[in-house]
Amino acid sequence: MRAVTVHEFGNLDKAGVEEREDPRPGEGEVLVEVRAAPVNYVDLVTFRGEYQFKPTLPYVPGKGPSGVVRAVGVGVHGLAPGDRVLAMAEYGGYAELVAVDHRQVYRLPDALSFVDAASMSLGFDTAWMALRDRARIRPGETVLVLGATGAVGLAAVQLARAMGARLVLAGVSRPERFAAAAAAGAHAMVDLSRPDLRNAVREQVLAATDGQGVDVVIDPLGGDPFDGAVRSLTWRGRLVVIGFAAGRIPVLKANYPLLKNIEISGLQISDYRKRLPELVAECYREVFAFYEQGLVTAPPSTAVPLTEWKTAFRTVAEGGATSRQVLLPTA
Ligand SMILES: NC(=O)c1ccc[n+]([C@@H]2O[C@H](COP(=O)([O-])OP(=O)(O)OC[C@H]3O[C@@H](n4cnc5c(N)ncnc54)[C@H](OP(=O)(O)O)[C@@H]3O)[C@@H](O)[C@H]2O)c1
Repeated sequence: MRAVTVHEFGNLDKAGVEEREDPRPGEGEVLVEVRAAPVNYVDLVTFRGEYQFKPTLPYVPGKGPSGVVRAVGVGVHGLAPGDRVLAMAEYGGYAELVAVDHRQVYRLPDALSFVDAASMSLGFDTAWMALRDRARIRPGETVLVLGATGAVGLAAVQLARAMGARLVLAGVSRPERFAAAAAAGAHAMVDLSRPDLRNAVREQVLAATDGQGVDVVIDPLGGDPFDGAVRSLTWRGRLVVIGFAAGRIPVLKANYPLLKNIEISGLQISDYRKRLPELVAECYREVFAFYEQGLVTAPPSTAVPLTEWKTAFRTVAEGGATSRQVLLPTA
């Protein structure tokens, strides 16, 4: 099979599309013919060798591809050759074939294309777990989603509405992208391009919530937006830390959660896949049900042949892409 193969962390000259031996499905594994694989921000961090988990070199990048089941290993039930699936692989998606633990493989709705499924993976499961498990969102609550134009943010905006949020505010750092967050269903914007975000986020949130603050904050940014968002929570509010795309890991004094009876929790989706696969399966059941009901849609995407993977990586690394980059191994 053809697969992107990385021989040295962070060095694009030491990585390329190579011929490799076809993987075989081990016990409990499913062999998937990959049709589409998303380029995620975390794939870049992993490629640079800066992620908390480092793959053994050489490795094939690519989390969360979609495709068709070619074969199943011993002990796999409920999946069969020909099934259209999303396969939440940790690595290996930028290839023609990948073998994945059957507990991380989810059958796709007929109406969901491979490219759209790949563009939803990692964003939607992360956002779902943050809202349902960490924030315990309830219908009628108010939500602030930071980084609302990113993969996680766009999913969180749509899912918060689908889960019955009364008001969804979108934190966006480039005003020209307000329209993208509004199209995903955000009721109003919180402008993250303003100076002094520690105060500016709070002022905007209070203005949008009759001075109440929000029940839930989903935060893939950290940095100054976090400083403002934590001060925008209402009494008993919950903030979920997902990432630090703004470039700084923020520090919080412990008296703050006490004074306002608020919760700050964190989310690491790959641990859920390992430790609570049944909850991730529940997540995809609901995400796909929302999709079939028209309550959520796949984010805009650009399909790119596997051979163009370095261009797709650079697009994501430069930031500002208006669509998800999705690699096509069979193109
Ligand atoms: N914990 C987990 O399990 C998990 C899972 C998935 C992702 N993550 C992390 O979550 C973060 C976002 O991931 P993603 O896939 O959504 O990334 P993405 O699609 O590249 O989106 C990044 C978002 O961050 C915003 N942004 C970037 N720099 C910013 C800055 N300096 N100030 C304010 N906003 C800024 C961008 O907003 P603009 O368009 O407004 O610039 C964009 O909306 C990453 O750090 C990723 O590693 C964590």
